[in-house]
Order: sequence, then structure tokens, then C-alpha cells
Amino acid sequence: MKVGVMASGRGSNFQAIIDAELRKETPDVEIIQLIVNKPEVYAIERAKKNNIPYEIIDSSKMNREEFDKEAIRIFEKKEIQIIVLAGFMRILSPFFINKYKNKILNIHPSLLPAFPGAHAHRDTLKYGAKISGCTAHIVDEGIDSGPIILQSTVEIDRDETEDSLSTKILVHEHKILPKALQLLCSGKIVLDGRKVTIKPD
Ligand code: GRF
Repeated sequence: MKVGVMASGRGSNFQAIIDAELRKETPDVEIIQLIVNKPEVYAIERAKKNNIPYEIIDSSKMNREEFDKEAIRIFEKKEIQIIVLAGFMRILSPFFINKYKNKILNIHPSLLPAFPGAHAHRDTLKYGAKISGCTAHIVDEGIDSGPIILQSTVEIDRDETEDSLSTKILVHEHKILPKALQLLCSGKIVLDGRKVTIKPD
């Protein structure tokens, strides 16, 4: 499957799916295109190093509809079939979501449905949760609310900080994101409402 990636920052999750492809752990995945919404983000360097074409669509210079239309234009030109949001810190319009219905994968650093949104680590610690983790899920029109494919847990220590929790969870993100992507690309995911079952091999 032809995969397009959207990122907004350092792109370590982008790197994780590149590495999984290089290690041949994701045989149904072909990463074709990166789109970033800001210039000078580190994800671009990763694209360059791995010869993956990238486009910068500067989201500060246009409205949501214009941004999404431009992203669709780029992805359509490359015949992208599956989209990964790898640290993409921007809400996509219902128009975009419906265009790629059940074909967009996101990674979120909490055990959804707990702590959706942009401050998952902070919210988790503030709440006093004793475990957390990450969630790979299909994107629907809500915020981090789509069907869950995979989750992985970590324990929260007494002296946990936002930084230490983020570092701890990131290791798990890098494991489940490529796995979830391979499941999606290999057609192994069966959706029943918001419930995901995975077809056996
Ligand atoms: C990750 O924690 C991801 O779950 C969240 O944003 C962070 C992005 O990290 N959505 P990176 O850019 O993939 O390194």
C-alpha cells in the first residue's frame, strides 16, 4: 500500500515506520510521501536521508480547508492509499477524513479514551493516573476518538515528570505504530462500528 505521512515536528514516529520498512517488518507498506505543516522541522531531515519526497504546506499561511485541499492534491498525485499522522499536531477537516475514511492512522501518547488532545502527558500526571501508554487508532472526525487498533502500557513512577513519561511512552509508540500500520495495509483489520478485530494469519 502506498503510504503518505503527515508530521509537525521531530518525526521520531516517522523514523520508526521508515526503520520497520527497512527491516522488512512491514511488507505491505511503502512510504511514498511526507507532508509537514511547518518549515524547518526535523522530520524533513529524516525524509531527505531516506530519499522520501516531502512537501511543506505552511499551515500558518492558509485556512484549514485550503491546507487540506493542498494535502489531498499532493497525496492524490502520488496515489496514496493510507495516511499516517506521525506527530501531526493539527486537526483535519471532515472533508479530508471522509476522503480517506478508515484509512488514516494516528498515534497518541495515552491510553485512549483517557486523555485525548494535545497535552496527554500533562493531563495524565495531573489526574494522578498510575498507568499510561499509547494508542494507535484509526482517525475519525473527533479528537483522538477513532477505533483503537493497538495499545501498549507503561507504569507511572512516583517521581514521574512530563519529560520522563513522554520518553518512556515514546519507546512503545515506536513499536506499535509500525505494527498497526502493517495491519492496516495488509487488510487484516475488520471494523464493526468502532470495534476493531484483527484477522488471524
Ligand atoms: C508523539 O508523542 C505522538 O504520540 C504525539 O506527538 C509526538 C510526536 O513525536 N502525537 P515525533 O514527532 O513522532 O517524534
